[in-house]
Amino acid sequence: MTTRRKKIYEGKAKILYEGPEPGTLIQYFKDDATAFNAQKKAILEGKGVINNRISEYIMTRLNGIGVQNHFIRRLNLREQLIKEVEIVPLEVVVRNIAAGSIATRLGLTEGQPLPRSIIEFYYKDDKLGDPMVSEEHITAFNWAATQEIDDMMAMALRVNDYLSGLFSGVGITLVDFKVEFGRIYEGDFSRIILADEISPDSCRLWDSATNEKLDKDRFRRDLGNVIESYTEVARRLGIMKEMPTVIQGGVH
Ligand code: TMP
Repeated sequence: MTTRRKKIYEGKAKILYEGPEPGTLIQYFKDDATAFNAQKKAILEGKGVINNRISEYIMTRLNGIGVQNHFIRRLNLREQLIKEVEIVPLEVVVRNIAAGSIATRLGLTEGQPLPRSIIEFYYKDDKLGDPMVSEEHITAFNWAATQEIDDMMAMALRVNDYLSGLFSGVGITLVDFKVEFGRIYEGDFSRIILADEISPDSCRLWDSATNEKLDKDRFRRDLGNVIESYTEVARRLGIMKEMPTVIQGGVH
């Protein structure tokens, strides 16, 4: 179905195709999983289907509380229609609990609550391994303007507050997550909206009772049951009741 469309961009986990109308794109979720800047790779059958649904659910809920984002509607198991944006070349990470790179960098114990939610910026460049950057770098190199940084930080914190509550309601702790933003142009003006995806690939999600990891760390750290854990997140959110058959059927 997707072969006759023009491919605009292919990333590690998603492909962007030309959309049906100007200003739209089709975002296709692959089953490919990568970690450590693609040094580790695998195909996790069904991951794309689950992430398409989880990201649809989260983006729709965020739109409902006024966090504007690129999601328009889901088209099928692996694809969603999105607004075309000019991606800001930053990964914006929000952390509530120490884990992953901040634990290593600052010598913190994984699981230690942070004194407050912390926002970090990483420059999106695979060749450089997405280095952490400061607001000084972002404005000096014109990756984003000061007002845009303020908007991204405010939106990232709203996403954090909303998702922390959403997940906590289903027995999941939102440890940290990564979001990306893009610009939409309206005449001479541009506006920052949330883009990319929000899924267990881009969040750390721990079972609140046991601290069991229900996210991509299961793949990064070879903990097994990756798809089962992503499916569990979807199940707790009340979506994808048909998922087990989809996975067994190996729908691509
Ligand atoms: P980190 O602890 O490895 O810096 O990751 C912080 C959060 O960002 C975590 O939820 C995983 C997510 N993340 C991505 O979505 N993509 C990436 O390339 C990296 C490194 C992290």
